[in-house]
Amino acid sequence: MERTTQLYEGKAKKVYLTTDPDVVLVSYKDDATAFNGLKKGTIKGKGEVNNVCSNHLFRLLESKGVKTHYVEQINERETFVRKVEIVPLEVIVRNIAAGSFSKRFGVKEGTALKAPSLEFSYKNDDLGDPMINDSQVLALGLATPEEIDKIKAMALKVNEILCDYFKEVGIILVDFKLEFGRFHGDIILADEISPDTCRFWDAKTGEKLDKDRFRRDLDDVDKGYREIKKRMGLE
Ligand code: TMP
Repeated sequence: MERTTQLYEGKAKKVYLTTDPDVVLVSYKDDATAFNGLKKGTIKGKGEVNNVCSNHLFRLLESKGVKTHYVEQINERETFVRKVEIVPLEVIVRNIAAGSFSKRFGVKEGTALKAPSLEFSYKNDDLGDPMINDSQVLALGLATPEEIDKIKAMALKVNEILCDYFKEVGIILVDFKLEFGRFHGDIILADEISPDTCRFWDAKTGEKLDKDRFRRDLDDVDKGYREIKKRMGLE
């Protein structure tokens, strides 16, 4: 398999077509944005951390029966993945109140939730990724009822697997965002799972080890990313 032409350049990744029509190559960048692209910057080594960590987690999830787009890592920054049609939903799972959940519902950051919270945002940069409910997803034809059920069940299963995994390496999985894709009639997990898309707190100190360091103008942003890679035994 070889890369051919560039298909797309996003905020954090480039995607290339390959000689296999079912496979694309994802190349992770060090570029970072927040607040729908309003804040821009670079985080040294981020692309490598996100690629390697995400691939590790996708292999773990596959081993537990979760279908993902992962095919094969090529190098520290680049990976072959299945070419999916992305369902335009950001699927957010939360275990502890933080970020927009804390703001919206007036719950102090760090409050443990009584059950995992699952919410959808409509993936649309022009609209600022607004929150959307099941009925609105159906009304807009963004997904079928069967797809919604499957996506929710998979997201909650991913949460259980990841909570157990991160607990063992001394990290609290506060919340995270998933994206799903359609592949030959099936729904599979796509995009990435990394410090860009999760909130990770050190279990002992509560220190933030994810993109919130960038969003909130804290220092040592790259150190947080590297610490996650280290805890995951990937260096
Ligand atoms: P939120 O509290 O800002 O809604 O974020 C919830 C989770 O989703 C958090 O782990 C960060 C992640 N996230 C993304 O991956 N991409 C985004 O564009 C946003 C807003 C959040």
